[in-house]
Amino acid sequence: MAQHDDNVVWHAHPVTRQARERLHGHAGAVVWFTGLSGSGKSTLAGALEHELHALGVSTYLLDGDNLRHGLCRDLGFGDDDRRENIRRVGEVANLMADAGLVVLTAFISPHRAERQMVRELVGEARFREVFVNTPLTVCESRDPKGLYKKARAGKLAHFTGVDAAYEAPENPALNLNGEQLVTNLTTQVLDLLRRDDII
Ligand code: ADX
Repeated sequence: MAQHDDNVVWHAHPVTRQARERLHGHAGAVVWFTGLSGSGKSTLAGALEHELHALGVSTYLLDGDNLRHGLCRDLGFGDDDRRENIRRVGEVANLMADAGLVVLTAFISPHRAERQMVRELVGEARFREVFVNTPLTVCESRDPKGLYKKARAGKLAHFTGVDAAYEAPENPALNLNGEQLVTNLTTQVLDLLRRDDII
């Protein structure tokens, strides 16, 4: 991939992140949901965004299935493409957090190295990794898009949990039991954001 050259210089603008955060009335942050396909990441992120919005928090939800229709439409599911997917999403999430938003992301993001890359980019203070820990058997029985069935039938290659690896987080800010009710899970994330003075 092309690297930028030394003639590209960072420009500091007068409106700072602190000023934007003051305007929003809360910190900018990234809540990074990770888990298998069908674990409930998108549903939880959507429900959480609804709650945050009602509380007057400025949010944006970045969702894997949606971004793969636009920003990441040129990417597939091999290791290199997944890495690039998460790199792009990490950069966008970081910009949005810098804008003062509470960014919710819902990507399988199966590799620890890529999640670590985003953590380092965003910075510990503003990054919260949330593991939507739903057993593969449960995700597979839900199979909302019929993709596990396709993968088991050999009609979809490199499917996470079937013939592509998922590396569970070792030390997430939250390890959620994805079989609980969404309202229960939403409360646990809200509690974390309040406890850490993000909202
Ligand atoms: S990630 O691995 O690069 O983080 P991402 O979250 O963007 O994945 O996209 C996952 C979604 O793409 C799944 O929920 C599923 O609907 C769809 N998908 C299509 N093919 C695959 C595949 N081979 N592995 C996983 N998900 C797939």
